Amino acid sequence: MRRQSGDLSRSARYDTRVVKRPAAIDAGLQLGLRNRWYPIFESKDLGSGKAIGIKRLGEELALWRDSSGQPHVFIDRCPHRGAAFSEGGTVHGQELQCWYHGFRYDGSGQCTAVPVEGEQTALANRVSITSYPVEERWGMIWAYIGEVDLFPSPPLELPDEMLRPDWAGHIARATWRANWLLVIDNLMDPMHASWLHAKSYTLSKGKKSARLAVRELDDGFIVERENQRGVNFDWTEYHDNGSLWFRLEIPYPRSAGPGGPFRILGWSTPVDAESSLSYFLRMRHVSGWQRRLWDLLYGLYLERNHWNVLEQDRRILESQRGLSSRLWEHMAQTDIGVVRLRRMLNEAYWSQQEVYLAAAAAGRKPSSGERVKALLAARGAGREAIPV
Ligand code: FES
Ligand SMILES: [Fe+2]
Repeated sequence: MRRQSGDLSRSARYDTRVVKRPAAIDAGLQLGLRNRWYPIFESKDLGSGKAIGIKRLGEELALWRDSSGQPHVFIDRCPHRGAAFSEGGTVHGQELQCWYHGFRYDGSGQCTAVPVEGEQTALANRVSITSYPVEERWGMIWAYIGEVDLFPSPPLELPDEMLRPDWAGHIARATWRANWLLVIDNLMDPMHASWLHAKSYTLSKGKKSARLAVRELDDGFIVERENQRGVNFDWTEYHDNGSLWFRLEIPYPRSAGPGGPFRILGWSTPVDAESSLSYFLRMRHVSGWQRRLWDLLYGLYLERNHWNVLEQDRRILESQRGLSSRLWEHMAQTDIGVVRLRRMLNEAYWSQQEVYLAAAAAGRKPSSGERVKALLAARGAGREAIPV
């Protein structure tokens, strides 16, 4: 008997063999897109002498600075018997020493000494810990978090404004109880400014409705209002060139001093599934005396205004109560940037998963940060694809 189409869709929904590629938020993207550079810490907060523990992209990491000043990021788990380096680990020259039994590791993560076995030991050569590539630029420590054997780290490319002497800015760091995907959705959603920030500084201006359009960029896209420019938060860019970052601009009145509009460069680094750490660089096109004036005005009142605006973002993003908010969405035309962003991230995620799976099939042992176990288990059970 020929089944009704309604019957088919109902049965398909419960048949694990015919599940399409789902949005990769549950097991994958909610803890970040791996194999990208992320700002993980501010330089000024990392001293020397000992390891500190942080969590990024859902991983426990040990961050330490060797005696030449170079920072290093290890997985925070000593390969001897699993103690955390951040629990009392100490720096000795170019090496980090675990507190528990004194095993030592160089910056590459290679074990160099097993003191409990004395001077002569063969064990050290066989022991190492993952050390992620690190760069220290613009007052921040950046880590390439991923699997360099499969995805070699590209050079860290910073936006032009951070490289040019005619731009100057300040770092704002925000730790929110909101998944990073909610934070970056918000960055690709310029219309929220006319509502959420309607009483804030310059964001009260302009039309409160618009059609939004998307334009491709070499390494991402721009979403912009069709009906106004240079009035409010009217456009925003997404770039993926080895790190995932955002650029947007907000007009400033004359009273805010020289340097034209206020530009924000943003990154959001997942901490875990529930929280994220965002860096918003607050930039202006200034140098010389204009730069000193910008610094002065920033300290006097502009920074306070910006934190008031960010506090509105924090409140509303935390109110979404995590990614379950996506189950009940009804997108508007003005969410076109959010939709595009999610699509691009999902494509990037799945193209990585294919590489991980092929490597696993060829016998490579997945790293602890990869989230391919569910997929592998499902393959072993004979399914073609499974929801993750
Ligand atoms: S657990 Fe680190 S040296 Fe033993
Ligand atoms: Fe906002």
